[in-house]
Amino acid sequence: MLNPIKLAKNNFLSSLDVSTEEVIHILDLAANFKNKDLKIELNDKVLGLIFDKSSTRTRVSFQVAMSRLGGSTIDLNPTTSQIGRGEPIKDTARVLSRYCDVIAIRTFNHSDLEEYAKWSTKPVINALTDLEHPCQALADFLTIKEEFFDFKKVVLTFIGDGNNVANSLILCGALLGVEIRIACPKGYEPNPLVIQKANEIYKNKNLLKITNDPNNAVLGANVLYTDVWSSMGEESKKEEKDKDFYGFTINSNLVNKADKDAIILHCLPAYRSKEITDEIIESKNSRIFHQAENRMYAQQALLSCLLL
Ligand code: CP
Ligand code: NVA
Repeated sequence: MLNPIKLAKNNFLSSLDVSTEEVIHILDLAANFKNKDLKIELNDKVLGLIFDKSSTRTRVSFQVAMSRLGGSTIDLNPTTSQIGRGEPIKDTARVLSRYCDVIAIRTFNHSDLEEYAKWSTKPVINALTDLEHPCQALADFLTIKEEFFDFKKVVLTFIGDGNNVANSLILCGALLGVEIRIACPKGYEPNPLVIQKANEIYKNKNLLKITNDPNNAVLGANVLYTDVWSSMGEESKKEEKDKDFYGFTINSNLVNKADKDAIILHCLPAYRSKEITDEIIESKNSRIFHQAENRMYAQQALLSCLLL
């Protein structure tokens, strides 16, 4: 039977906070949780949830994951705690680490998450920042593994904004040896440091391609993935981004150019008819709701390793 392993790092702030062996183990554990082959009892451990932005999937999947592990969660809503009043992160982090066993944080600046991790004596998990969404990437690659098994034979094309979701896909994809193509409008390319780090991991420099041409990027792809054009916090840029992303909608025209068995992923929430059509979300090749479900198993696996 597979068991959780102690990870080399205490925190999960980035997809690169785990090694290739560790991410493979987490995905295998997640599959075991899903198949109900694995029962782990965390004995009343408590996860604190600090969410500076809205969330359905991440919040609920963490709550259910913790409950299935025999632990519980505390919702630390910034507007009803002293966090919203501006209490310094270094004070909040030191206090919360005396009550909680692990803390998951969704916020804007990645540097704020790092500040929590610096002062917390308990593991800190990135529940999404403007830079990365590593828990999402775990569920994404679990979904891809269920479909294709061998990561090295997979071409994943992400069409959309090169921000948090794309950055974590690139880094986790590099660890797993997946060919990643990012198609985005000019000016929306992924973080340069993320690209540099991924290229250092890939043995073959052709496995990561950044392009402004979605039609070319989908040719022969096995996975088509998209995310909203305007992320949380970018509400005022919506009109401008809708114009900039014209032509980057995953529709039947793009899907027909990919491999005939290509699956469709979206981290959700989706704006139907913007980044993806309703028809494609509901199509037989869509695995979008399996992907959302897999958030729970991936996080059960991650928590069981971080809380060892
Ligand atoms: N995909 C995702 O993180 O969804 P939520 O914003 O609902 O948590
Ligand atoms: N890029 C999106 C992801 C939502 C899960 C955002 O940051 O809002």
